[in-house]
Amino acid sequence: MTHPESPESTPIIVVGAGVIGLTVAFELARRRIPVLVLERDHVGAGAAGVAAGMLAVVGEAEHETAELADLLVTSQRAYPAFVRELQHASGRDVGFVTEGTLIVGLGRDGEQELRHSQRAQDRLGLRSSWLTGDEARALEPHLGPRISAALLAREDHQVDPRALLPALAAATEALGGRVLTGTRVTGFDTTAGRLTAVVGVHQGDDRPFAIRCEAAVLAAGAWCAVGLAWPAAPVLVRPVKGQVVRLRGPAILRRVVRDTQVYLVPRRNGELVVGATMEDVGFDAAPTAGAVTDLLWQARLLAPAVYDLEIVEVGVGFRPAARDHLPTIGPTDVPGLYVATGHFRHGILLAPTTAVLLADLLVDDRMSPLLDRFRPGRFEAASRTAPSVDSR
Ligand code: GLY
Repeated sequence: MTHPESPESTPIIVVGAGVIGLTVAFELARRRIPVLVLERDHVGAGAAGVAAGMLAVVGEAEHETAELADLLVTSQRAYPAFVRELQHASGRDVGFVTEGTLIVGLGRDGEQELRHSQRAQDRLGLRSSWLTGDEARALEPHLGPRISAALLAREDHQVDPRALLPALAAATEALGGRVLTGTRVTGFDTTAGRLTAVVGVHQGDDRPFAIRCEAAVLAAGAWCAVGLAWPAAPVLVRPVKGQVVRLRGPAILRRVVRDTQVYLVPRRNGELVVGATMEDVGFDAAPTAGAVTDLLWQARLLAPAVYDLEIVEVGVGFRPAARDHLPTIGPTDVPGLYVATGHFRHGILLAPTTAVLLADLLVDDRMSPLLDRFRPGRFEAASRTAPSVDSR
C-alpha cells in the first residue's frame, strides 16, 4: 500500500536527509534526474544539525590517509562553486564565511605541535602562514595571552549547517526533486538479486509504503546499520558522539579558532559554536556536565572572553564512523543499491565531492579512482584475503 503522499515509483531514492543524502539529491536534481529523499525525522535531524560546519582541510588532513586527504582537498576546492550554485538554486544564504582559520598553539609544547603540523601540511601541499602569538592577537584581539604561535589557514572556511541543510532541501525541490520527511525506511525489496523497491512506514500512523525505483542510496549516517532489513553485505558504521556548546553574546572572534583540543566557530548570527567531544558510547544522547566543563575550560584558554557569554544550547550529534574511520561510498553487492556514509568528522566538507562522484556512478556508471579506497565491500574483501592464523 502506498501513502497518498508517496509516489508509486521514482527513478532514484535517497534514504536520509542529512548533509550527504541531501547533497546527493541536489546533485541529481541539478542533472535533471528525478529523485526522492526519504527521511524518518526532519531535515537535518542527524549529525549535520549539530555540526560546527568547519571546512578544515589544513586543520584536519594531516591526521588522515593520503586517499582521504585527496578527497578532502578535492571537496574543499569544490566548495565555493557548490555554495554559489546552491544559493542560486535555493535563493538562500548558507553562511559561507571565508575568513580562514587560526590554528593556535599554547606555550612551548603547543608551538612544537604547530611546527610538526606545518611540516605535515607541507607534505600534503597545503598552505598556512606562521604567526607569532602577538601577530595572531593582532588578527583576533580576544585570543588569550598563553597563545604563543598560530598557523593561519586562509583556505579553511566555514559554512552554517543549519542554513545549509534547509537550502539543500529547498534547492532539490526547486529543481524538481522531492523530500518526504516522517517516512521511515525499514528495508529494500529485490527481485533476482536486484533492487526493485524501498519499503517502510510513515511515522505517526505507521502506514506502510513501497516505492519502486531503479536505484537507491543509503545515506542515513550513523543510523545506516540500525533497524533496516538490508539485503547487501553489512554497512559497518558506528556512532561517535560529539557534544557541542552554543554560546551567544558580543562577537569575540571573526574567524574559526582551534587547537588540538577544541574549536570555536563564530557564526554571523552572533553564536559561537564550541566543539566537540569524541565519545564511543553508542547512541547515548545525554549532554554531560563533564563534556561542557572540558569544552568551556579549553575554549576559555583560547579566548578568555568566552567566560561571559550565554549558553544557549548543548547539542549532541552522532558522527558515522567505519572501522577504519574512512567514508563508505559506492555500489553494494546488490545491483541498484548504493551507500554513502562513514564520513566521520568530515561530512559537511566531503558532501559536494561525495555527491558528484556518486552521481557520476548512478547516472553514467562512472566509478572515479578517488573512490577505490572507500568501497562498501572493503571489509569483506580484506577478511577474505587476510592470511589465516595457524593456531596449532
Ligand atoms: N568536524 C569536526 C567534528 O566532527 O567534531
